[in-house]
Amino acid sequence: MGFKYIQYQKEPNSIGILTVNRPNVLNALNWDTLGELKVFLEDILPGEEVKALIVTGAGEKAFVAGADIAQMNEMKERDFQDYVDTAHRVYELIENSSCPSIAAINGYALGGGCELALACDIRIASEKARLGFPEVKLGIFPGWGGTQRVTRVLGLGKTKELVFTGEMIDANEALRIGLVEKVVPHEETMSVARDLAGAIAKRGPIAVRMAKTAINAGSEMDLQKALLLEKTLVSLCFDSEDRIEGMNAFLEKREPAFTGR
Ligand code: COA
Repeated sequence: MGFKYIQYQKEPNSIGILTVNRPNVLNALNWDTLGELKVFLEDILPGEEVKALIVTGAGEKAFVAGADIAQMNEMKERDFQDYVDTAHRVYELIENSSCPSIAAINGYALGGGCELALACDIRIASEKARLGFPEVKLGIFPGWGGTQRVTRVLGLGKTKELVFTGEMIDANEALRIGLVEKVVPHEETMSVARDLAGAIAKRGPIAVRMAKTAINAGSEMDLQKALLLEKTLVSLCFDSEDRIEGMNAFLEKREPAFTGR
């Protein structure tokens, strides 16, 4: 696909694997990497018909060690604003994609790397993963959605503790506080992520997509509006061929063959 800093492969069971590929700098996200991610998410992923996307980092040490500090240090204020805008766009594309996403956190997930993992729907961490927001050590703070997405996952106090200190936590602490959903032996990170993606890929794609919308959009609304949205979306699901197939398959004691219609 002609990318330099990211890799994408589609596996036979409709699972996509997106890898940030700058292992020499622990997969730090420079401007060009964000640009490639944006092109991939806007122009390529929607046509791929993948049912789950795994996001990970190349090499043995890092998921993504954050924004590219060397490049940021050279930026003028206007460039920095554009850089932040691009990162926000990329993370919104992941968060709002109809395709469920799984972060396979295979090492350091720091700053923008931790924010990238939080833009994904579900996070699997290697036992070697280290997570955190070191930005305050650099005189900035997590500005790629971090202060908002972390707060929604961890609550105010824990977010402030992590963001104000800039300290890293290990995978088990991340699990304990709910920053990741699962911790696995390092060498099993991708296989566990693939199993999870495979389980999602077998389900009714319309149902999964609408559930994601109900959960994400609903969590930003007051309860009454969110429940209304839920009712509307589940009724749309009920109108689908997949719903008929899913219920018939259950009653006929066979596996459903969903078509996404
Ligand atoms: N931006 C640019 N380069 C980075 C980077 C980043 N966010 N994170 C790591 N690198 C580079 C290092 O400069 C180093 O390059 P070099 O080999 O040319 O010197 C290379 O990646 C390896 O990193 P190194 O620091 O030598 O590895 P380490 O194992 O000693 O430490 C970390 C690992 C993650 C603790 C350390 O690299 C780090 O603190 N990185 C910055 C994390 C951060 O602040 N992220 C938020 C940015 S807003």
